[in-house]
Amino acid sequence: MVTIRPMASSDLDEVAQIESEIYDYDIWTRESFREEVELKKHAHCFVLTDNEVIAGYIVVWFYAGELHIGNVGIGSAFRRKGLGKELIRFILAHFPEAESAYLEVKKTNSPAIRLYEQFGFSALMERRAYYNDGSDALVMVKNMTL
Ligand SMILES: CC(C)(COP(=O)(O)OP(=O)(O)OC[C@H]1O[C@@H](n2cnc3c(N)ncnc32)[C@H](O)[C@@H]1OP(=O)(O)O)[C@@H](O)C(=O)NCCC(=O)NCCS
Repeated sequence: MVTIRPMASSDLDEVAQIESEIYDYDIWTRESFREEVELKKHAHCFVLTDNEVIAGYIVVWFYAGELHIGNVGIGSAFRRKGLGKELIRFILAHFPEAESAYLEVKKTNSPAIRLYEQFGFSALMERRAYYNDGSDALVMVKNMTL
């Protein structure tokens, strides 16, 4: 059974482990996730579990009507089962008061770009050398009032 619930401090080891397996640039550490879960007032962090095993996670910031997707990932063993879609669908529905949603995605990350396009995100601009491997980011935006 697939469930989405708030990320707890006890999830941090597992989440950081998945993060280190799926990213090879700008990897968030356990401490980065801990700050989001425990300290940041406008951060909202969730895990998606598949039969109680953490399969993925999402971290967003919501402030002044603007939703910003900061990090999202699905563990390699759980891909292409619609779980990424579940997380994005969940998070957009979770903030009905949001007026717009933003995110940065690596320009070459076509799986993620397709996922976001399915939810009505479109490219707004590029940020040069945004990631710590020197690669560029695409800023994508969705108007949530439509
Ligand atoms: C991007 C990511 C979250 C997608 O997760 P997922 O659970 O595999 O995605 P889903 O099964 O829900 O697929 C949703 C859509 O994404 C797109 N997609 C996902 N993987 C894809 C792939 N390998 N190739 C092409 N399109 C892909 C498709 O449009 C797919 O829709 P479809 O199944 O109707 O064709 C996952 O690949 C991931 O964690 N990648 C590494 C981390 C990352 O890139 N995060 C986003 C950074 S901004």
